[in-house]
Amino acid sequence: MSAVVDLSVDGDIGVLTINSPPVNALSAAVRDGLAAGVAAAVADPAVKAIVLHCAGRTFIAGADISEFGGAMKGASLPAVQAAMEDCPKPIIAAIHGTALGGGLEVALTCHYRVAVPSAKLGLPEVKLGLLPGAGGTQRLPRLVGPEQALKMVTSGTPISAKAALASGLIDEIAPEDGLLEAAKAFARRPNLALVKVRDKQDKVEAARATAPEMFAQFRKDNARAMRGFEAPEANIKCIEAAVNLSFDEGMKVERDLFVPLMMGLQSKAQRYVFFAERQANKVEGLPADAAPLTIGSVGIIGAGTMGGGIAMNFLNAGVPVTIVEMKQEALDRGVATIRKNYENTAAKGRMTAADVEARMGLLTPTLDMEELSAADLVIEAVFETMEIKRDVFGKLDRIAKPGAILASNTSYLNVDEIADVTSRPGSVLGLHFFSPANVMRLLEVVRGAKTEPAVLATAMATAKKIGKVAVVAGVCHGFIGNRMLSSRQAEAMKLIVEGATPEQVDRVLYDFGWPMGPFQMSDLAGLDIGWSAEKSKGETIRDRLCEAGLRGQKNGRGFYDYDAQRNRTPSPVATQIILDYAAEKGVNRREVGDEEILERCLYPMVNEGALILAEGMAQRASDIDIVWINGYGWPVYRGGPMFWADSVGLAKVAERLTHYGYEVAPLLARLAAEEKSFTGQF
Ligand code: 3HC
Ligand code: NAI
Repeated sequence: MSAVVDLSVDGDIGVLTINSPPVNALSAAVRDGLAAGVAAAVADPAVKAIVLHCAGRTFIAGADISEFGGAMKGASLPAVQAAMEDCPKPIIAAIHGTALGGGLEVALTCHYRVAVPSAKLGLPEVKLGLLPGAGGTQRLPRLVGPEQALKMVTSGTPISAKAALASGLIDEIAPEDGLLEAAKAFARRPNLALVKVRDKQDKVEAARATAPEMFAQFRKDNARAMRGFEAPEANIKCIEAAVNLSFDEGMKVERDLFVPLMMGLQSKAQRYVFFAERQANKVEGLPADAAPLTIGSVGIIGAGTMGGGIAMNFLNAGVPVTIVEMKQEALDRGVATIRKNYENTAAKGRMTAADVEARMGLLTPTLDMEELSAADLVIEAVFETMEIKRDVFGKLDRIAKPGAILASNTSYLNVDEIADVTSRPGSVLGLHFFSPANVMRLLEVVRGAKTEPAVLATAMATAKKIGKVAVVAGVCHGFIGNRMLSSRQAEAMKLIVEGATPEQVDRVLYDFGWPMGPFQMSDLAGLDIGWSAEKSKGETIRDRLCEAGLRGQKNGRGFYDYDAQRNRTPSPVATQIILDYAAEKGVNRREVGDEEILERCLYPMVNEGALILAEGMAQRASDIDIVWINGYGWPVYRGGPMFWADSVGLAKVAERLTHYGYEVAPLLARLAAEEKSFTGQF
């Protein structure tokens, strides 16, 4: 009957099976198939009840995001849902994998829902800058109550089958490998009523009296996380409507708020990011036989800030880690930090004491590098000095087993120079984690000149396994992220000499959507990173701040002074150092406007991004955006620097760069002249 939806009849049960890989998204073909399938099941007198389930790895994972923004074809989703909800025969959704977005909304128009224990159910639209636009905001609170619905639609985080059963979202949990049979048995229960979620009133009515305070409190508690985003507030308004209005009125509110989000720039950016993230994991030109190697154990050299965080990623994924230090004291300190991090997580209730011990049990601390001889992958995270790294890799080359992958976490250094001290440069690459390495999602995978395809493929697969978003970068100073960061930091320093203040620059970038501005970031990282008193020439502002004993947050003194609660106020010492520096350089300080600050901090990054792209140091513009969103806090609703520049218009970006005295990168100049974009989105 349809290439993607099949109706089979088992006795008195009609089984509708959606088979549209990879995730059974609600494409036009699936919607048409569902409409026809339901009609056929209704028309078949033998069919008394209907089970809706999906083939492959998951129940419907949502609307087909690739259709958004274009003209809709085929049956409309609301029409299909109405046919299901009003169906004279009970429909039971049989859920495995993930029932997300439009997928859960379809399940909510079924009369009952049965799910396997491993299933996850949620409305993740907010992550795409949207709200559930197929009745999800009106039906979900009617089943689980407004308070839980509010959490689900604003976070987008799915819940487990167990939680779904407890909250009333599903009616039964089926055995993991007996879903279809359990759903059929459910469908055969005598006198199954045609339960319509839309008619359920008890939970929304019960919440009405206390709703104003509940919503006010929720907005207050989540203001920081929702800052700058349009979609969360629209989602909240829909749940408010579910509580205060009739179902039909609530549906109208949902529709009215959905359309502007769908047409808006934020959702366009967030949808782009969804696909960009998946694209990033694909490496151009990798031969098909570049099969990933198995990583069953990992070695880490250096148990400092990065080594410890990197270790946690693998321990969390159940991979044993051997961690090596030079001195017992450093080793003990590193291991204690890892344990403390886990214990803090346990104290917040997000892990059990047994989990902590299980993870620590996978960790082998040692002072003997020889113990890395069995590791499949070794990651070096020692001091950022070429001689030291080459020394470590020389030793490692003698110890590591044949075929082991040898990686450096270097921030800036030339990975090829490191690889060349080994007898196996094909097994060497950069794995650049971001701090804190157990938290930040980004991993820059630095492909050396000789890195073998299978080694690269393994790095990408390993990244996915430990929950990272990996982006391939070429060998250049600072790779993608830090290279672009340097251009922003340099301009921020110039701005404070010319007359802007650190807090003005920070405010402008914070208001743009960054979690913090460049000077707050410098203070947080430590002003003395890579600085030494012996080598300081007192030439830069940074040298002078360090010489004056300003180290940033760690000693409460930096561009800002910090109190015990880390509240900050502009530092008079730093201010004087900046003023003296400007005077010495003969700079006539002036008032600098906010717009100039934004343009001068961000457009040079875009310019550098264009160079990186043209040099082939990034595979594609969207990879650069993924780096900035996941590694540095670029606001996701602005789509990353390259998408954002496209949205501004490249002609304008080029013109402003010229205005500020920059040489416009040839790729940027060409695209601007041809009225094209980096990402193809504009
Ligand atoms: N539409 C179109 N394509 C989708 C899709 C969707 N909803 N969900 C996943 N895909 C594609 C991915 O792009 C990827 O394609 P590729 O192989 O060509 O790169 C492929 O399916 C597999 O996806 P993943 O690599 O992400 O597979 P995982 O197994 O890791 O994850 C998943 C599966 C949890 C379902 C994850 O893909 C996901 O979270 N998908 C998005 C779910 C979502 O946001 N749904 C809501 C959509 S909006 C909506 O429904 C609006 C409605 O309210 C009207
Ligand atoms: P760190 O100073 O905190 O830790 C380095 C550790 O390596 C020290 O504990 C030291 O004792 C140990 N070590 C040095 N030589 C060793 C050897 N030969 N054998 C065993 N252990 C040895 O430094 P951090 O911050 O962890 O940086 C490590 C690397 O990660 C550097 O290359 C740095 O550029 C990079 N990096 C740092 C980031 C950060 O934000 N701190 C971010 C991303 C990368």
